[in-house]
Amino acid sequence: MRDLTPDPSTLDPIETASVDELRSLQLERLRWSLRHAYDNVPHYREAFDAADVHPDDCRDLADLARFPFTTKQDLRDHYPFGMFAVPREQVVRVHASSGTTGQPTVVGYTADDVSMWSDVVARSIRASGVRSGDVVHVAYGYGLFTGGLGAHYGAERLGCTVIPVSGGMTERQVRLISDFRPDAIMVTPSYMLALIDEMRAQGLDPRDTSLQVGIFGAEPWTEAMRQEVEKTVDMHAVDIYGLSEVIGPGVANECVETKDGLHVWEDHFYPEVIDPETGQVLPDGERGELVFTSLTKQAMPVVRYRTRDLTRLLPGTVRTMRRMEKVTGRSDDMIILRGVNLFPTQVEELLLAEPDLAPHFECVLTRPGRLDELTVRVEIRHESLPADQRTAISTRLRHHMKSTIGVTADIELVEPTALLRSVGKIQRVRDLRGA
Ligand code: DLL
Repeated sequence: MRDLTPDPSTLDPIETASVDELRSLQLERLRWSLRHAYDNVPHYREAFDAADVHPDDCRDLADLARFPFTTKQDLRDHYPFGMFAVPREQVVRVHASSGTTGQPTVVGYTADDVSMWSDVVARSIRASGVRSGDVVHVAYGYGLFTGGLGAHYGAERLGCTVIPVSGGMTERQVRLISDFRPDAIMVTPSYMLALIDEMRAQGLDPRDTSLQVGIFGAEPWTEAMRQEVEKTVDMHAVDIYGLSEVIGPGVANECVETKDGLHVWEDHFYPEVIDPETGQVLPDGERGELVFTSLTKQAMPVVRYRTRDLTRLLPGTVRTMRRMEKVTGRSDDMIILRGVNLFPTQVEELLLAEPDLAPHFECVLTRPGRLDELTVRVEIRHESLPADQRTAISTRLRHHMKSTIGVTADIELVEPTALLRSVGKIQRVRDLRGA
């Protein structure tokens, strides 16, 4: 793999400013953002008043802890445009989260917000090793989902040639990769796996494509998955994180030269990690729920938005900004099986350690009697795998699930391509307990 470390002179000056400089910019912006939210969004005025805090009480970054949290429910309660801080006419773009249950969450952007978003996504793409002039294939979905358009505007801002393919039509995706020879692809890691399958089906060796970098996000994925994709495609696999409520993709990104966690672009999004039970702010280094306050957003500022994503904050390395550890799960997709908590990413790590298993799996929850049961369904790589080896793998995995995660699970090995492929975000857990 090529060394893609960006030329330091191409970075935004704030990316390598001193910590003091960064903190002082944040404080100035935070005070503006709290005031903007309080003055223009009735929800924030009521919530601050009820908590007996006022934007003027923020004299130091630590004072943020006195302000109330904002939850997804707050956004839903003000559906569709009630959280906007500017007249609707100034909102040039609206996106919405899928909303599998109940109301979708709507977010809005002014022209300045779209520009700031393009800047942070451009910064993310550059950190991933892509340069102005490169060709970028965008396979995140375009539409209400922020992935496609967010990636698109950022890649254009960086000066790339953008191929706006969106998700789906997998055969055509592979043809376009062969014909247009992109340097980078932006896609969910699970859909990348589907593209790899399709390359092989078309008789192409994934290592022979033009791709040098994959910028993967929108769903949790593991170090083991990184190794798998980097080896299979001979490219760098870099993590991009974000959420619609905060802006979309481009809240944090790994640097290709270190891949040691995601630098949070904290000149625009101020991170805190809290104890999800008590709401107490935890010191850097401790794991908990990630919370964001926007520092520059105009149309829809967010104050202490609870992401439900679990991670910890670590000091900056190749950038001044702090890093967040790879998000391995959110409180929502945590499986509680007979009192033990587990995330599909923990299962992913174990499965990928088995060379004869493919990285395609699902966790199925059932309740045949009075107790919950977990079946992990995973594809084998080759149909020719002998029966005794299949039995040996299942036995080994059952043992590892018990000894490392602490749960008893059934392992079901299925034939290659037996499981449904995702086009966008994958659903790893199928919960049939109510069925
Ligand atoms: O998924 C934005 C995005 C698009 C990020 C493309 C990266 C690339 P939402 O649909 O609002 O926005 O979903 C946000 O997805 O709270 C996390 O739970 C999860 N998520 C996003 N990126 C990552 C990641 C977009 N790199 C929710 N690792 C977030 C783990 C991620 N989880």
